[in-house]
Amino acid sequence: MTAKLSKRYQRIIYQLAELFEKTDDIDAHLATACALLYHKFNKNFWVGFYFLKEGELVVKCYQGPLACQTLERNKGACWSAINSRKTIIVPDVDKFPGHIACDSRSKSEIVVPIPDSDGNIIGVLDIDSDKPDSYCETDRKFLEKIIDTI
Ligand code: SME
Repeated sequence: MTAKLSKRYQRIIYQLAELFEKTDDIDAHLATACALLYHKFNKNFWVGFYFLKEGELVVKCYQGPLACQTLERNKGACWSAINSRKTIIVPDVDKFPGHIACDSRSKSEIVVPIPDSDGNIIGVLDIDSDKPDSYCETDRKFLEKIIDTI
């Protein structure tokens, strides 16, 4: 299972590297990563980016159902990833204190913080599943790698 998952991520990383060579435009990279991660995994019900703007987390490109435009400060999984500077895996959103439910079908999620070149956290990659317990250490490892390449 993990070997299969690793292979799938390796293919995605290879594909992204080829696509990223076409342009340096960061928005193009974010949109392309979003599309690939959404369409290559059945478990991914929502894939998108939130970036910090004037102290708020504001949604950027995403794929999936309509999302919250902004996220209340210091609440939920995305802000936890920002504040801890660490990837957060939420196996059961109902058990995560302060979880923000943009869509009630979301049951588990993984949030990866995004550092700038000086190491300051500027946003997050957020991926939601409509099934509980969808994300593991393999997802963490490869999603962090993908963030590095963007
Ligand atoms: N669940 C997130 C909010 C973003 S949506 O899942 C798209 C959170 O608790 O921060």
